[in-house]
Amino acid sequence: MSDKVVLAYSGGLDTSVAIKWIIEKYGYDVITLTIDVGGEEELDSLKERSLKSGAIKHYSIDAKEEFAHDYVYAAIKANALYQDQYPISTALSRPLIASKLVDIAKKEKAIAVAHGSTGKGNDQVRFDVAIASLAPELRIIAPIREWKLSREEEIKYAKQHNIPVSTKPESPYSIDENIYGRSIECGILEDPSIEPPEEIFELTTSPEKCPNDPEYITLGFERGIPKSLDGSKKTPVELLEDISHIAGKNGVGRIDHIEDRLVGIKSREVYECPAAMVLITAHKDLEKCVLTRHELAFKKLVDIQWTVAAYNGLWTDPLMNDLNAFIDKTQERVNGTVKLKLFKGNCRVVGRSSPDSLYSRKLATYEAGTTFDQTKAIGFIELWGLQTKVANIVKRDNQK
Ligand code: ARG
Repeated sequence: MSDKVVLAYSGGLDTSVAIKWIIEKYGYDVITLTIDVGGEEELDSLKERSLKSGAIKHYSIDAKEEFAHDYVYAAIKANALYQDQYPISTALSRPLIASKLVDIAKKEKAIAVAHGSTGKGNDQVRFDVAIASLAPELRIIAPIREWKLSREEEIKYAKQHNIPVSTKPESPYSIDENIYGRSIECGILEDPSIEPPEEIFELTTSPEKCPNDPEYITLGFERGIPKSLDGSKKTPVELLEDISHIAGKNGVGRIDHIEDRLVGIKSREVYECPAAMVLITAHKDLEKCVLTRHELAFKKLVDIQWTVAAYNGLWTDPLMNDLNAFIDKTQERVNGTVKLKLFKGNCRVVGRSSPDSLYSRKLATYEAGTTFDQTKAIGFIELWGLQTKVANIVKRDNQK
């Protein structure tokens, strides 16, 4: 009996050719594992395709709820936008997939796990660090990284070995999708000066073709987590799917930016993440209502650290738990509702209310009956501006 390896299998080009390559190069028996984190279309045919490509066994795990609750919701609490733009949708799925690979490897007494990442991206880092953290005894094989084939060469290899691949031969794009978003790479997108062609988008309507009337939605949050849409309670998966649909229909969630990969490469990245953009916009706004300015300023630093660590593959580092402890404490007061207006690619908050809100109309109002004592302002400003005033006096004196 040969040694076994468990391969994270998406059914795409990379992981399909990987099955054959591992058999040829290492002589291992290949067991494939597909993790459903949403967005996968052809789950049913995957088993057949995997076995046809040479695997001895195929597993499929529906991890959508776990992904939404334990990974996506943590990112929303951290307002996670890498370099202010990317909601790290792909990055979040990697440690989850790694943990399932390790589970199945243990169950099957495999000696290795494998994934289809290249040697140029972030995903290899996310997989390798998570796997090594959870099961340091497992060997990690990354066929595409070791083999260094171009996409064209992979397609040729697949044809030569009768490997069924779903990527239509003419499709030049590399896609990664889950319930939190979709990433599109390769082809013409590699020229950052050219506008992404309309054909690459699947979740979002072009703003030019969006409905002519705005659509309003109201999101309910409890302890930093979205719980309801327009008053009706939803599971995390239902909520993400429904918001994605409504926001996508109104053109919300397209992202096109230059991104710094951990390995140093600058890359042009295109995403459509309608649910992510709506949820983070709403969540940030609610936080501004309920947290003090001191908390907000500090949490911004924590959020950035959290996002960079998650992006850079440190999901299993103790730092994440440390940061989560702070974030979760702040989220105890992030309760309330946020009303958003979606219109032709735009998403704006137009109303919010919270039982924990620090907004006081009595303090803020310019009308009669305010509780704010304006006479106190004079002394406050005197002390607040003291050093600024002194610094300017000193500067002037020294110039004389
Ligand atoms: N640049 C993004 C990231 O590092 C997206 C990667 C997409 N991966 C893919 N296999 N298409 O998270």
